[in-house]
This record gives sequence, structure tokens and C-alpha cells, in this order.
Amino acid sequence: MRALVLREQSFEIEAVALDALQAGEARVRLLAAALNRRDEWIRRGQYPRIQYPAILGSDGCGIVEAVGSEADREWIGKVVVINPSFGWGTNSRAQGRDYEILGMPRAGTLAEYLHVAVDRLYEKPVHLSSEEAAALPLAGLTAYRALFTQGQLQSRQKLLITGIGGGVATMALQFAVAVGAQVFVTSGRPEKIERAQALGAVGGVNYRHAEWERLLRELADGEFDLVVDGTGGEPFNALLNLTVPGGVLVVYGATLGAVPNLHLHRIFWRQLHVVGSTMGTDEEFAAMLRFVGEHRVVPVIDSVFPFDRVLEAFERLCSEDHMGKVVVRISEEY
Ligand SMILES: NC(=O)c1ccc[n+]([C@@H]2O[C@H](COP(=O)([O-])OP(=O)(O)OC[C@H]3O[C@@H](n4cnc5c(N)ncnc54)[C@H](OP(=O)(O)O)[C@@H]3O)[C@@H](O)[C@H]2O)c1
Repeated sequence: MRALVLREQSFEIEAVALDALQAGEARVRLLAAALNRRDEWIRRGQYPRIQYPAILGSDGCGIVEAVGSEADREWIGKVVVINPSFGWGTNSRAQGRDYEILGMPRAGTLAEYLHVAVDRLYEKPVHLSSEEAAALPLAGLTAYRALFTQGQLQSRQKLLITGIGGGVATMALQFAVAVGAQVFVTSGRPEKIERAQALGAVGGVNYRHAEWERLLRELADGEFDLVVDGTGGEPFNALLNLTVPGGVLVVYGATLGAVPNLHLHRIFWRQLHVVGSTMGTDEEFAAMLRFVGEHRVVPVIDSVFPFDRVLEAFERLCSEDHMGKVVVRISEEY
């Protein structure tokens, strides 16, 4: 099969032998995959415990062509999405030590075929195309847990989502609008704020504006019940001010890195709940898919690249122009 292989000195599509299918596994012919910032961190060598060679890709939608156990025959021919979480463990509050995400060290979805445990398969939501479904798993799961489990979002609450161009942020916006929250956003691009409004956001401000914190407070007429941030860095201290006293600030990423001079006193004096969130349990993955089905959520796709141009997809992810998910079409529809 052909797969995008990351080696210490190269990153290109190669011919790769597919291992024998094991009992309990399915062979999935991938139709579409989607990129996440994680793939880029690994490509740059900025991710813990990188093992080479690696086939990246945590998101995928494909068709089951074979199974390793007779008992799983019912899966053959089904179009599925893959839960990228492996070995969360029994504690719903946090993943266990053996937790892994699909796509390094385990071979991922930027390949023509994937051998994966049958218990990672879920039927594709019927209202979505394979490209839309491929956009869902990692960002959808992260957004779902951040908003509803960690953030306990309620309808009509005021919510701030930072960096709305990001894949998780855009998904979080769609989920929050679906439950009737009042969503505000930040972005470095005015056109992304307009797009967010078209998706149901009340409004937003440009984080490049020197007075973005004040503008946001004016726009929202005060502070936010919940703030969901994947950016970290210097702007994080302002988010502590923008969270209502006793409110919740959920952190799922740190694109801008560590927070210099963290204003710790704001956290205790304002009685804030600063909560971390990563991926989610199998129950949350199933609940996310149900939610997407019930609310007919269609993930925002920024762009679709053919597999042969997958490196351009990475460039697109790194550009400041993208909004929503960057998708790679691996093979034609069934
Ligand atoms: N914990 C988890 O399970 C998990 C899962 C997925 C991702 N993540 C992490 O979450 C982060 C976002 O990932 P992603 O894939 O959703 O997004 P992404 O597609 O990598 O986009 C990152 C976004 O960061 C925003 N940004 C840049 N500078 C900003 C600033 N000064 N203030 C506010 N926003 C700013 C940009 O928003 P605009 O384009 O709107 O300007 C950009 O679109 C990454 O760090 C990733 O590693 C964590």
C-alpha cells in the first residue's frame, strides 16, 4: 500500500507492506483522512517520544474490507469512522498511563489501508460524506469533552472560544451553538469572525487588536461563564480576567506555548476553575457521534487535498488562512 511515512530525514509517500490481519482487527480501506496540529508537531520533532518510521494521521473514514475474526464479519462493507483513542482505561476523569493516540507510534490514517481493532470502529453518521466524517474524530472528541464534560456548558450560557480558525475551536463553536449557548470568539482574521457568526456565534474580536480584551468585554457585556482555550501563551492572563468569578476556563492546547508570568492571584481571588482537557473516553466518543447525528452537525472543512498532494495539506494547516479541518482524500468513494 501507499502511505505517508515520516523518517528522521524524509517525509514522503512510500510503498509499505501491510502486516497480516490479526484476530479482532479490521482492514479499513481509507477514503478520507484529516490533519491535526498533532501531526505537524510530530513532523517538526516537537512531540514526546517520537518513534521513526511513523505513519501519521489520527482521523479517518473508510470502508471495512476484511476482518481477522469470523465473529466480526458483520463489519465487512460498512463505512466507518475510527476512534483515535487507545487504552483510555477505567477512570473517566483522566486517561491511564498506556493511553495512545492513533498515528504514531501506531500506524495512522495517512495511508491507503489501516489495520485497527474492531472496537475502535463506529458507523459513519449517515448525514455526512466520508470527507466530513473524517474531519470529526479527534477534534470532535476534544471539543465534546472540553465543552460538556469539563466545561459543563449549559444552554444560554456565555461562552468564549479562542482562535476560532482552529479545528477543535470551530467544532466547539458548532456544538455549543447546537445547545443554544451564546458563543463569542477571537481570531486573527476578521473574515473568520464573520464566518463564525454565520455558523451561529454572537460575535468576536481580533486578538491582534491591542485592546482585544476590553473590546471583548464590551461586546459580551461582561465576562464569560465558560472560556475554552487551545492557545495558551501570553494572552492566557487576559482570559483569567475574562472568566466570570467562579467560572470555568478549559484548556485543551497551547499553540503559543507556556504562559509567561502567569497571574496566579487571579485564579484564586476570582475562584476560577482552570481545567485541562485531552481527547475523551470511548463513551464520550460515542456520545459525540450521537450528538452530531441528532443535531445534524456538519464539520467545517477548510480544504480537501488529494493524497498525492498531502504535503500541501500540511502547508495549509500551518498557514494562518485555514478555518476548520484540512482533509486528505485517500481513495475514491466506494
Ligand atoms: N488536548 C487535546 O486532546 C488536543 C486535541 C486537538 C488539538 N490540541 C491542541 O490544540 C491546539 C489547537 O489545535 P487545532 O488543531 O484545533 O487548531 P489549529 O488548526 O492548529 O489552529 C490553531 C489556531 O490557533 C489560533 N491562534 C493563533 N494565535 C492565537 C492567539 N494569539 N490567540 C488566539 N488564538 C490564536 C489560530 O486561530 P485563528 O486562525 O482564528 O487566528 C489558529 O487557527 C494545538 O495546540 C493542538 O496541539 C489538543
